[in-house]
Amino acid sequence: MTEELHQSGVLLCSDISTDILPYIEGRDSKQIFVLTDENTAKLCAPILQSIPQLKEAHYVTIPAGDDFKNLESLAKIWSFLGRHKATRHSLLINLGGGVISDIGGFAACTYKRGLDFYNIPTTLLSIVDAAVGGKTGINFDGLKNQIGVIRQPQHVFIDPQFLSTLDEENRISGYAEMVKHALISSEKDWKEVTAFDIHDGDRETLKNLFWKSVAIKERVVAIDPNEKGMRKALNFGHTIGHAIESVSHEKEAPILHGMAVAVGMVAELYLSHKKCGFPQQILEQAVTFINAMYPAYAFGDADYEHLYDLMTQDKKNEGNRINFTLLGNIGDVQINTHCTKEEIFAAMDFYRNSVLSTSINH
Ligand code: GLY
Repeated sequence: MTEELHQSGVLLCSDISTDILPYIEGRDSKQIFVLTDENTAKLCAPILQSIPQLKEAHYVTIPAGDDFKNLESLAKIWSFLGRHKATRHSLLINLGGGVISDIGGFAACTYKRGLDFYNIPTTLLSIVDAAVGGKTGINFDGLKNQIGVIRQPQHVFIDPQFLSTLDEENRISGYAEMVKHALISSEKDWKEVTAFDIHDGDRETLKNLFWKSVAIKERVVAIDPNEKGMRKALNFGHTIGHAIESVSHEKEAPILHGMAVAVGMVAELYLSHKKCGFPQQILEQAVTFINAMYPAYAFGDADYEHLYDLMTQDKKNEGNRINFTLLGNIGDVQINTHCTKEEIFAAMDFYRNSVLSTSINH
């Protein structure tokens, strides 16, 4: 039994092996391509390989990890499609986390000027974020998602069975985007997300929560698919978060996307309080909640200039202004809010002090 979200093509499956059948029926299976990384090739691909209608599909695998969301992997996918005579009527199924839906989506959008693609997200992060909303692309010149296009996949198949192979770190990382969706959505969503125990909570509740989270994202994307305005709401926590994530890669101690977004959310909640009047009491509650769940990220004054420099490259900026998505309250999103360098440095101080006081209080 599948459940579809507002006829958006995003489907919640009970078993992908049967639920996908109507969507591949009538296609020549030799013209179906499946992209995996090394992990999903082992852990998830066997489920698709057991579907008789996909017996003759071609599987292409790239190395796992954000460092491989690059031109070289993209060229590998294009060449593979070419060698196996993909046409504009072929289908590419992206089976994996955010790296796979991003690069696979971009490969599908660009190969012969575009073929159909489906996403089958296998991580919590990609279920609630990357696989939905049509952002595709690769990292380039040290910058995340620098090259890409926005085009919606024909379908997204969400099957919670893939989450059973997910480790604790990746589950928590994905949860950060659910926390973000709740913060930009409503007090009710915030209460539900903060009441859930991601370490130990039951699967059914998690399924209900992530499906609501997907719905929040899908609603925002439906209003503004090309990120001209409202879609920037989804960038809350990401201006500082992306800079932290990039620095962690440069230092060769990469942290997962959600871990960096958690840092970004704490710092940007502080900016929200200072610039938009986000209530002090909710700030304290949210910071305590986030810091209790996510490992502290250690950085010092010496990193500030470089982090700032990375923020100047953010895609939301206009002219020389660094623009943030901030909150006046839970659910009250204020996009295009300019913050000065001093304010941004103060936000980074706030984060570092907040993790100190959290560890003292523990
Ligand atoms: N990850 C933010 C967006 O899809 O717009």
